[in-house]
Amino acid sequence: MSPLDETTDAVVATGVGKVFPAGNVTALEGVDLVVRSGEFVSLIGPSGCGKSTLLRLIADLDAPTSGTLTVFGKSAEKARIDQDYGIAFQQAGLLPWRTVSANIELPLELHGVGKAARKQRSAELLSLVGLTDFADRFPDQLSGGMQQRIAIARALAEQPSLLLMDEPFGALDEMTRERMQTELSNICAETGAAVVFVTHSIPEAVFLSDRVVVMSPRPGRIETVLSMDLGSASERAESLREDTAFFEMVTAVREALHQGAPARGVDDR
Ligand SMILES: Nc1ncnc2c1ncn2[C@@H]1O[C@H](COP(=O)(O)OP(=O)(O)OP(=O)(O)O)[C@@H](O)[C@H]1O
Ligand SMILES: [Mg+2]
Repeated sequence: MSPLDETTDAVVATGVGKVFPAGNVTALEGVDLVVRSGEFVSLIGPSGCGKSTLLRLIADLDAPTSGTLTVFGKSAEKARIDQDYGIAFQQAGLLPWRTVSANIELPLELHGVGKAARKQRSAELLSLVGLTDFADRFPDQLSGGMQQRIAIARALAEQPSLLLMDEPFGALDEMTRERMQTELSNICAETGAAVVFVTHSIPEAVFLSDRVVVMSPRPGRIETVLSMDLGSASERAESLREDTAFFEMVTAVREALHQGAPARGVDDR
C-alpha cells in the first residue's frame, strides 16, 4: 500500500546500466533519473533505446547490470513486494474468465483484502474510469479502450503511489486515446500518484507530463530532460491541446528527439 512520505522520491536511478548477454546488447548505459513523488515523467525515444527495459528494471521484472535503483527509498524488489506501484502495459492483460469487477479485485484478493472491502473498492474504481455499468461483463465483451481502462483501474486498486505504464494507449483510436489521457491526468490529480509513462507520441507525452525524458539508442541513454511547465495535472484541460504553449513544447521535444538520433519509431500523433 502507500506508506509514503511525500518527500521520498518515487524513483532514483543512479548510473543504471543493463547489458543483455544475448547478443551482448547494451540496452541502457549510465542512466541517472529522479522521479519525484507525485511527478509525471514520460520516456520517449526511438525503438530499441531501452524505454521498456528501464520500466522493467523499476518494476523489478529484471535487474540492472550496473548502477543502483531505488523505489521510494527501497530496493526495487522490496517496493514490488510492498506493492508500491501498479503496472499497465500495452496489452490490457485481463483474465478472460473473470468479470470486469473480479479482474479489478484480483490484486486485492491476492493480498487478502476482505470481500466487502474489495467490492467497495472496485465500485469506486469503475466509477473513476466511467465503466460502472460493465462490472458484471467479461473482458471480451468490451472494446479495446474499455479493456485498457479496466487494466488501469486494476493498476490503481491498491492505491499505488507510483504507476508504471508502457505504451498503455498504443492500441487505441485517436479519440479514445485523448479521452484516456484526460482521464489519466484527472486520476493523477486525484490520487497524487507518480507516473513513469512510456510513449511514442510526442503530443501525448507533452499533454501528460511534468517532464519528458528523451532517450537515444545504442547504447540506450538519456539524451535530455525537458520540463513541460504547462501547469499541474488538475489545471490541464482539453483546451491545452490547442494552446500555443502546448505546441511550443511539442516542438521542443521533437527537436530534442531529432538531435539525438533519427526519430525512427516515434510519431507525431
Ligand atoms: N531480454 C532481452 N534479451 C536481449 N536483448 C534484449 C532483451 N530485452 C531487450 N533487449 C534489447 O535491448 C534494447 C532495448 O530494448 P527495449 O525493449 O527496452 O526498447 P524500447 O525503447 O522499449 O523499444 P520500443 O519502442 O520498440 O518498445 C533493444 O536493442 C533490445 O533488442
Ligand atoms: Mg518498449
